[in-house]
Parts: sequence; structure tokens; C-alpha cells
Amino acid sequence: MFADRVLSGMRPTGSLHLGHYHGVLKNWVKLQQQYECLFFVADWHALTTHYDTPEIIEQNVWDMVIDWLAAGVDPSQAILFIQSKVPAHAELYLLLSMMTPLGWLERVPTYKDQQEKLSEKDLSTYGFLGYPLLQSADILIYRANRVPVGEDQAPHLEFTREISRRFNHIYGKEVGFEEKAELAIKKLGSKKSKLYVELRNLYQEQGDENALEEAQSLLNEQQNLSLGDRERLFGYLEGGGKMILTEPETLLTETAKMPGLDGQKMSKSYNNTISLREDPEIIRKKIRTMPTDPARVRRSDPGDPARCPVWQFHLVYSDEATREWAQRGCRNAEIGCLDCKAPVIDAILAEQAPMVERIMKYEEDPTLVRNIIADGCEKANKLAEETMRDIREAMGLSYS
Ligand code: TRP
Ligand code: SF4
Repeated sequence: MFADRVLSGMRPTGSLHLGHYHGVLKNWVKLQQQYECLFFVADWHALTTHYDTPEIIEQNVWDMVIDWLAAGVDPSQAILFIQSKVPAHAELYLLLSMMTPLGWLERVPTYKDQQEKLSEKDLSTYGFLGYPLLQSADILIYRANRVPVGEDQAPHLEFTREISRRFNHIYGKEVGFEEKAELAIKKLGSKKSKLYVELRNLYQEQGDENALEEAQSLLNEQQNLSLGDRERLFGYLEGGGKMILTEPETLLTETAKMPGLDGQKMSKSYNNTISLREDPEIIRKKIRTMPTDPARVRRSDPGDPARCPVWQFHLVYSDEATREWAQRGCRNAEIGCLDCKAPVIDAILAEQAPMVERIMKYEEDPTLVRNIIADGCEKANKLAEETMRDIREAMGLSYS
């Protein structure tokens, strides 16, 4: 309902690897050029599962932010902040908890899944059950309408949409809503108010989605509507109350599948990663010792790239010509596996070089990162406060 805004968070899990880079960070770098973006360190989220090991969090936070910057996330284009430095996330989490049905939380599929997967931890906690709601607060507090997340997080987005709808349903009602909406329409000016009414009729009588979208962008272009009137007019388009919170959508983007050294998903828990800060010698060694198609016992044995994790790396790193060369060379036993791995090693090193340089710059002067985050937290706090004002008012908490 407001301008497009992207929000995403990442738990501080330690130094980042190529899986994060190709799966998430490259996408963030692209998004920051297209949208207003907020990216944050989800330190409270880390505590929902790692509440008994707080020492890992602090040190990971700064390393992770440095890795973001190294990957090209740009503080002049995106707002970078730490969740716990914007306490309003917690306030909204608390307020939303008042109207969140327990069953909705218990039914989020990751609840049972993660408890089983992380069986060595006691996750029968209030915080762990509530974690999707904390994520909802993260998103709704900025009225972010685009959220880039992996498939595993899709149920959390769906949950957030349901919370948003429920909130608007319960708190969007106000005395005299219709009259106030009609007054707000008049403020659009005669031509635009006529168009608004036409589009609203088209949507409400015929379900015309295009008319709805057109009306929404008409509202988005209005600079001098008050926030209250804006909420009324957005709400009036679709139904009977103010629209205080947005319904975020998942932002799907094709990202290269970055496999680990063993062909499984790259993940610290599988011990198959290459970190962004990996020593070049270790990178060479890790790739050289990567498993290949088991059929290629000797150099003269032909192989099949489809059975080889190195081929997956070519798909991420190599151009058409190099892939062609690898395919043919492998199938006809014209090249050895070490030959085949050479261009992959070169590509990883070339990709890494500028990142390492940036990492060094930030490590040398820790105040750089501290200042970037301080600045981002200040901006985030301001944006969060704008929404909180409306929410407090809607929930009867705006007395002074
Ligand atoms: N839950 C996400 C994860 O574990 C991180 C996260 C927290 C997040 N809040 C968010 C992602 C809001 C997107 C939007 O990976
Ligand atoms: Fe894998 Fe390349 Fe060896 Fe073929 S030649 S098995 S693709 S490393």
C-alpha cells in the first residue's frame, strides 16, 4: 500500500560462505539497486534456538556485517541494522502476540520440523514457538511488501500475511469510517476522485484486479494525503476498514544453486563450505580434493558431468565455452579432473579477490562498520516509529 519496500534478515551464524554469497547476498546487491531495502542482523532470532550459547552471537554479528559489505551490499543504497538495536520490533511482537491464535503458531510447519531436526536442543520454549511472529513483526513494522526468502521460509510469509489481515480486520474499524473515507476521496481533487470511485466500483463489482492495482498506484502517487486518509482509502478499496498493515509478498528470484564441495547443499553443518575469507591455498586444496564422477578411476576412463559435483561449480562459474570444453573433455577422457577443476579454481579466486580486499579495509578500522550500523539503526528506528504510532493508536495506546 505504500511504496515498494524490501526487507530481509539473516541470523548471525558465523563467517559466510559461497552458498550465502550466491544464494542470498548477490540477490541483495541486485535488489538494493531496484528498491528501498532494509537488511538486518536477526540476533534475537539466533537466540530463539541458541539461547544457551550467547557468546557465539556477538562475535558473529560484526563478522557477518563485514561479509555483507565485502559482497557488495552498499550502505549508501540499503539500510543495514541490527534487530535488537530497534526495540520496537519487540514492542510490535508483544502487541501482535495479544491477537495471535496459539493454533496458528503450532501449525507453522517449521515448528515441529526444527524441533525434530535440532533434537539435541530443548526447543519447547515460548520463544521458539513465537519465532514466526517475531519474524512477522520484523516485516510488518516497516510495512515491507517484498520479502526475499528461501522456500523454507515461505510458510512464515504466509503466516505473516494472515497476521496482517487479522490485525487490519480487528483494528482497522473506526467510528464513521465510511464518512471519513468519502471525505478523503474528495481531497483527491475532482478528476482523481472520480477515477478512484470508478476503479473501486470496477474492483468491487467485477473483481477487476487491474482496476485495484491502478487505484493503488493512483494512491501511491498522492503526495499530500495524510497517513490516516491513505490507510482509509487503501482499506476502502478492498473492504470496510483502514488498512494499517501491509501484506508482504515473497520475492522469488532465480539464484544459482550453489552446491557444497560434496554436491550436497553448501552448509556449515555438512562441513562442505568455502568461506568468503578462505585462504587461497586452502581453496585450491579444497577444490583439488573434491570428489568427482566415481567412474573416472583412471585418467583414461570417460566420465559423466551429471554425476560430478565439480560440474555444478561449472554451472555457477563457467561460460558456455568452458562448459563445452569440460563436457567434451570429460565424456571423451580428453582432460583429467585436475584440468577440469583449474578454471573453477581461477573463477573462485577472481571472485574472492575484491571481497578480501574490502574485508581487510573493514577489519583494519572497526569504526567503519560500527558507524554504518549506527547510521542504519537510526534510520530503521525512525521508520519503525512511524508504523508504531499508527499501531499504538489503533490498539488504544496513544494517550499522552
Ligand atoms: N527467519 C529467517 C532465517 O532464519 C531470518 C529472518 C528473520 C527474516 N526475520 C526475517 C527473513 C524477516 C526475512 C524477513 O533465515
Ligand atoms: Fe567431473 Fe570434470 Fe572430472 Fe568430469 S572431468 S568427472 S566433470 S571433474
